[in-house]
Amino acid sequence: MTQISVRVDGVTYADDVEPRTLLVNYLREQVGKVGTVVGCDTSNCGACTVLLDGVAVKSCTVLAVQADEAEVTTIEGVAAPDGTLHPLQRAFHELHGLQCGFCTPGMIMASIDLLRDHPDPSETEIREGIEGNLCRCTGYQNIVRAVQHAAGEMSGRARSDGPASDRSASPADVDTAAAPHAVVRA
Ligand code: FES
Ligand code: FES
Repeated sequence: MTQISVRVDGVTYADDVEPRTLLVNYLREQVGKVGTVVGCDTSNCGACTVLLDGVAVKSCTVLAVQADEAEVTTIEGVAAPDGTLHPLQRAFHELHGLQCGFCTPGMIMASIDLLRDHPDPSETEIREGIEGNLCRCTGYQNIVRAVQHAAGEMSGRARSDGPASDRSASPADVDTAAAPHAVVRA
């Protein structure tokens, strides 16, 4: 067993893992972040996507030990602390960017990464940005619309420069230092 220390959704966890443990299994089974789901286990579907130090990764392709001393953000950490949904979560809901919802956590995490690099993405950039994420239900059209809508909302928000309490969480907002008490689990 190897001990790792990982900050997940703003909380620090110290755990013993087997060297072969996949990050997705660590997150689900040891940390309890079951919002991150497993669709294929073979790096094809993207359902397990999380942010590792801000970059979208398929957590079934990463070993838990590779996340040692890193920052992981899951779908459970993107809403604001008061429960206000992230603009992408809201857009997927309001624009019917999901049906069964199984792909949605991964779609949203991949889209967060996409919008960080492309705040005003074209339809092509959105489709390329989520090309590693498969959806069996929607035909992608409403997913693309949802990402476009959220991009507009997020860039408008950035311009408004309103008080922090009025803002929804963005990847940069999912901080960590904001965690009231770092829970270190032995
Ligand atoms: S479960 Fe990781 S890519 Fe499908
Ligand atoms: S909404 Fe069912 S797989 Fe995408």
